[in-house]
Amino acid sequence: MLGRGPRGQGAPGTDRIIKMFLTTFITPLYLILWHILWIRNNFYFISIHLQCNCVSPFEILALQVANRHNTLLRPLAVGDEIVAANVHIHSWRETYAGVIDDATLDELPIKFAERVERWQNIINESLSACDNKTIVAVKEKNIVGFARVGVDRDGAFEGAGELWSLYLLRACQRKQIGYLLLCEAMKFLRENGYRSAYAWVLAANPTMAFYRRSGAVETGIRKTLDIGGKQYEAHAMQWNSLDQFV
Ligand SMILES: CC(C)(COP(=O)(O)OP(=O)(O)OC[C@H]1O[C@@H](n2cnc3c(N)ncnc32)[C@H](O)[C@@H]1OP(=O)(O)O)[C@@H](O)C(=O)NCCC(=O)NCCS
Repeated sequence: MLGRGPRGQGAPGTDRIIKMFLTTFITPLYLILWHILWIRNNFYFISIHLQCNCVSPFEILALQVANRHNTLLRPLAVGDEIVAANVHIHSWRETYAGVIDDATLDELPIKFAERVERWQNIINESLSACDNKTIVAVKEKNIVGFARVGVDRDGAFEGAGELWSLYLLRACQRKQIGYLLLCEAMKFLRENGYRSAYAWVLAANPTMAFYRRSGAVETGIRKTLDIGGKQYEAHAMQWNSLDQFV
């Protein structure tokens, strides 16, 4: 019998017409729209890449992974000094309440201008320095935390890099952002030839658990830090291998 095939299949030519229509119009249109959306969503990352030679397209992809909780990681940039100083002071006050003397913590906001100047110097230095890196976590266009990493400042551990600092505002803690900052910092050390790293952590700081969870072990090496004229004990935590931070 000529005409329609089995029920539901339609005329023999219809499938071909639909296929041709999809191949000629819909698929290319879909691909174009997908690319437009991708470029729009990633414009921020692409502009970072264009502004900072230090960020590779692969790194941008890695940074996108950090986009959980609407947070992205990027290198410290010109113009960050005021917000970074603010986060630094807030995070210190939140972290060290009951650990460091109250008077020292209360003085921090008074020394805000000094702290901004320090961050300005860090930014200036980071524009030319290759042996250290500062990465910031940004949420809704505001810096909420940072990690600083570089050469071993004490010479305490031969061949190791040092995590200089890692701070997040309390409101953004326990969302894996700290771990992502740590990973980016350690990746920088790894790419610069270091095989291990360490960090000084105040003995009374409860975030020791975070370091242990991230693979760091206590070395048994301790030192006394002078903060605001008072002495505090710090423990050296070490990552014996940076291979986990790929
Ligand atoms: C340390 C810090 C950067 C960690 O960042 P974070 O985003 O809160 O931590 P993450 O969510 O990535 O934590 C990863 C894991 O580490 C462990 N961990 C993190 N913080 C912890 C804490 N305070 N106590 C116990 N375990 C902790 C947990 O096992 C956690 O996984 P889970 O939440 O699934 O249980 C952040 O808590 C912080 O800024 N603290 C105050 C500043 C500070 O002490 N800096 C270190 C100075 S040396």
